[in-house]
Amino acid sequence: MPVIRMLSRVVSQMQQSPACGCWLLAVPARFLGTLPRQVQSDASFHSVSFSEIDHPRILITGGLGQLGVGLANFLRKRFGKQNVILSDIRKPPNHIFHSGPFIYSDILDYKHLREVVVNNRITWLFHYSALLSAVGETNVSLARAVNITGLHNVLDVAAEHSLRLFVPSSIGAFGPTSPRNPTPDLCIQRPRTIYGVSKVHAELMGEYYCYRYGLDFRCLRYPGIISADTQPGGGTTDYAVQMFHDAAKNGKFECNLKPTTRLPMMYIDDCLRATLEVMEAPADSLSMRTYNISAMSFTPEELAQEVLKHVPEFQMTYNVDSVRQAIADSWPMNLDDSTARKDWGWKHDFDLPELVTTMMNFHGSDTRVAQAN
Ligand code: SER
Repeated sequence: MPVIRMLSRVVSQMQQSPACGCWLLAVPARFLGTLPRQVQSDASFHSVSFSEIDHPRILITGGLGQLGVGLANFLRKRFGKQNVILSDIRKPPNHIFHSGPFIYSDILDYKHLREVVVNNRITWLFHYSALLSAVGETNVSLARAVNITGLHNVLDVAAEHSLRLFVPSSIGAFGPTSPRNPTPDLCIQRPRTIYGVSKVHAELMGEYYCYRYGLDFRCLRYPGIISADTQPGGGTTDYAVQMFHDAAKNGKFECNLKPTTRLPMMYIDDCLRATLEVMEAPADSLSMRTYNISAMSFTPEELAQEVLKHVPEFQMTYNVDSVRQAIADSWPMNLDDSTARKDWGWKHDFDLPELVTTMMNFHGSDTRVAQAN
């Protein structure tokens, strides 16, 4: 078929298709093109076998952050311990090192990242390396390198080796001009942090690679994630994690956001389950490649009221951090996740009371609860 006619057929197929996920199906493989790094892609010729989907070989970058270890444990239960490799540039504590495969991997070193993917026959990649919102503002050049340059390396390696790629986005991808209550999947995104800018960039680049090179990119916009046994670092939503810890340990907490600052939040178990669910969703069920997901939304004073039910002597004071407050004031108060619920059946398990009970039990406040009753 003459090239012009074929091209116009591709364009008309794309115009008929609703969103990125479906364009992919419409683009003939030969038109996926040469990848930016000039390493011959196997994307055009590689058809994903049944066993690769059923038994993925998984790499998690940024594995020693808030979510990596929990995700590795969760995925290992499903796919087997040896099939899930945790990686980071830091030295793991003993219990993590001995809990399953761990390797050094620096996302800023493209050749090394490629070596890791090839040598370990990786088929799914979860890209968790990132500097969060508040800490990113204290070191913009590092945040830019890790969150943007690092993502470029990951995208190229993933496209070259036909990986299924998950990249978390965030409520931080929205800004003061976005509708805040609720925030839909598709709306104005003009974030005011380097973290947010890098997340919008990741969403757009992932969707572009999906459309242009056939990359199987999947992305969720996480709310603030609350975890019990791993600490976040440098996020604006982290006050909530710290509140549980300090309430259980000292019975008091100094909050760096104003009492009425409302932000979307989610318990880690819901977050990890959503992540696996979107990765396992059939491609034709995905009308988009980037979805909001939501569970609950609360303010510091609402959270403190709930904590008081478990720690009756709990006291909270405020010492507002102007940088974090400005960030929080520009973020969604509630995420509209109706498309995720419709497309791949997303449903949260944990609401606010259940979250607080789970967290306080973990931090050993059971005896205080008994006393309060
Ligand atoms: N938890 C992140 C932060 O506060 C937002 O995704 O930076």
